[in-house]
Amino acid sequence: MNRTVRVPVEDVELSVQERGEGPALLLVHGFPFDHGLWRHQLKTFPGWRRIAPDLRGAGGSSAPDNGYSMARYADDLIAVLDAMDVAAAVVCGLSMGGYVIFELLRRYRARVRAAILCDTKAEADTDEGKRGRDEMIALARGEGAASVADKMVPALLAPDTRAERPEVEAQVREMIGRAPVAGIVGALTAMRDRVDSTPLLSELRVPVLVVAGASDGISTPEGGAAMAGKIKGARFAAVAGAGHLPPLEQPFVTTRLIADFLKTVL
Ligand code: MLT
Repeated sequence: MNRTVRVPVEDVELSVQERGEGPALLLVHGFPFDHGLWRHQLKTFPGWRRIAPDLRGAGGSSAPDNGYSMARYADDLIAVLDAMDVAAAVVCGLSMGGYVIFELLRRYRARVRAAILCDTKAEADTDEGKRGRDEMIALARGEGAASVADKMVPALLAPDTRAERPEVEAQVREMIGRAPVAGIVGALTAMRDRVDSTPLLSELRVPVLVVAGASDGISTPEGGAAMAGKIKGARFAAVAGAGHLPPLEQPFVTTRLIADFLKTVL
């Protein structure tokens, strides 16, 4: 199986990449990316059915002007699982993808077999963080996606990635550059308004792996380790030589970590 599926959900159509057969592994991208964030992982994990949607407002999915929230993104993912006849999946989300997974765990726990939380955090935005979202919204509306890329890239990638692997920076800029402004603004609004998921952590009873780039300044490894410490039985791993985007910056190591975890959940 190697195909792009179009899943209609109310007023939008979601574009979903599907590779392989077996138990489902749902790969949820962060902001402002699309399924391309998982380009390496989509090619690996034989024996798993890899499902990588573009969230509404991203990649090949529709980008309505309004109606974005973590709840809506989670409802969309459930519609994707329903359309693909998946009762429960291992869910893997990076950063904003992790925020969406918290929403799945809160409202659709039976659909989650295990969770991989990459470079994400449970806390809601601080007041300063919310102001930053509003500034980014103004930047996206005024100057477009490429300006968002210019602002974000230095914080997204480890210094070594930028110095030694220029192709990764090019991939990231290309992904951000093709993101529709309506989707960027929608995601920023959804992240700004998301709730604190910290109370959820101690209630989780599914296997959890927390991963963070060792040089991630957005969702720090210290924060990732502390989050894992609040989840019963969770493991934590830091990825050396990666910033906020280990699946792209250190694909081999990141894929290996995920593969080792997957072996324990079957
Ligand atoms: C992401 O990668 O999804 C974002 O950096 C998350 C955030 O800004 O909180």
